[in-house]
Amino acid sequence: MKYLVTSALPYVNNVPHLGNLAGSILPADVYTRYRRLNGDKVIYICGTDEHGTPITISAKNERLSPRLLCDKYHGIQTDLFERFHIKFDNFSRTTRKPHYELTTQFFEKLLANGHIIEKVMTMPYDQKAELFLPDRYVEGTCPHCGYSPARGDQCDGCGKLLLPEELKNIKSTISGETPIFKKTTHWFLDLPKFSDRLKGWLESQTHWRPNVRNFALSWVKHGLKQRAITRDLDWGVPVPLPQAAGKVIYVWFDAPIGYISSTRELYGGDASKADEWWKSKDTQLIHFLGKDNVPFHAIVWPSMLLGVDEGYNLPHYIEGYEYLKFNGKKFSKSLNHGIWLDEAAALYPADYWRYTLISILPQTKDADFSWQEFGKRVNDELNDAIGNFVHRSLTFIQSKFGGKVPEPELDDAAKEMLKSIDATFEEAGKLFEAFDLKGALNSVLRLAKKGNQYFNEQAPWKKDNPTALYVSVQLDAALSVLLSPFIPASSQRLWQTLSQKGSVSSTSWSAPKVAAGTNLQKPRPLFSKINPKEAAERLASLRGKRG
Ligand code: MF3
Ligand code: ZN
Repeated sequence: MKYLVTSALPYVNNVPHLGNLAGSILPADVYTRYRRLNGDKVIYICGTDEHGTPITISAKNERLSPRLLCDKYHGIQTDLFERFHIKFDNFSRTTRKPHYELTTQFFEKLLANGHIIEKVMTMPYDQKAELFLPDRYVEGTCPHCGYSPARGDQCDGCGKLLLPEELKNIKSTISGETPIFKKTTHWFLDLPKFSDRLKGWLESQTHWRPNVRNFALSWVKHGLKQRAITRDLDWGVPVPLPQAAGKVIYVWFDAPIGYISSTRELYGGDASKADEWWKSKDTQLIHFLGKDNVPFHAIVWPSMLLGVDEGYNLPHYIEGYEYLKFNGKKFSKSLNHGIWLDEAAALYPADYWRYTLISILPQTKDADFSWQEFGKRVNDELNDAIGNFVHRSLTFIQSKFGGKVPEPELDDAAKEMLKSIDATFEEAGKLFEAFDLKGALNSVLRLAKKGNQYFNEQAPWKKDNPTALYVSVQLDAALSVLLSPFIPASSQRLWQTLSQKGSVSSTSWSAPKVAAGTNLQKPRPLFSKINPKEAAERLASLRGKRG
């Protein structure tokens, strides 16, 4: 089996915050790293989502052209994801020419196959600005859940897709005025046609999380409607029809095609190489995303893939995360409520963030990041349970055996400990296979705690205990491998301290053996404690300095 892993393409209009990192990009990276260690063929594909009203609105606010805004934030995001050790196989942009070409082909193919229908509809129109108001250009109250402000295409409260005319109390976000509704021609994807196939497919996806699968299924059961996939905007992929001059393709139509165009780019534009991932039956397509993206990935995108009828695989798994909050509330740029990645990177090592975010990953319900939580994870788990164990074992070998791994005589306790190592590789591996990343990390943490207990019981400071130290080194090496999907930089440092060759990420998902007689390097502590109160102060002073 091969694995094609994607994370939702981030809109290229902001400096991402911790929630954006935790919400698909980091877990997809961790998962991919596990796959690689497990010896699987895997690629991780992403890129920036550069069209639609999120971009045009931000461009206007920043007084930049959409193109310059995209250039600016593509650079910023590329750099920040790198600083958090996110290892994409390719990170593309949806404004590149091959992406325009492929999107155009998708549109033309769906049209030729009878799945796209031209219709006259009414859309909100701002008379002052003389503009149609698609998507984020209008806000109002959600007819389903009462949430406000819901946008013209989707409600953030309940996640349902909307039409502007369904919004109560609709207002233009450009002028604040109530828009009029005016006729305009658009092209619709004929979703109802795919209902039966989607239903059958979704029903058979019993390995998905119930919340993701049920959300999608209830959508289909309530009756799908034809959805407009073109917009009256001047930024986007032009609709390839003479009568559609001045209209562009809806961002949610072109963006997922970005997964394919980014894969092609990885192979220098060779479509047949990309198809080995996209069309071969021995590949699983795995999408990581936030829950608001579920309807697009579970309904619209599969319909597009089915509709072009070119043999594309449907997603094998859709991981739709709940939300990460900050101190109990949503991240908010305008309220400056949250922590942004440039700030996070300036304050603490990437691995502290990676560890904490995975340990509180919103897999089944919303999660909360607070400095207290960060302190607990970094101090009690990363530093005390993991870092201290490693450091104690390694300094003892330095002081008692001159840094040389001693020859053991394996007794029952030692054998038991070595067995636990194998069992952890197995258990954490199974949890990874079930997309329980948080569970996998917990399993590794339990092993470290067991190691501490063993070390205390063996008390190698009371008498020479070469066996306990030998076993501890095996445990150190195991932790280096087991933790490397989560905290790759620290894992690599530990790997080198253990005098192991090459990169820990290119070893394998099994207990490594550090032979007796190996000369270890002098250890330095892997982590240090943080003070939650001081962390908040350091963030405030960082913001003060940056103005
Ligand atoms: N940019 C969208 C968001 O941030 C996600 C796009 S995912 C893709 O919500 F499939 F369209 F790429
Ligand atoms: Zn709603």
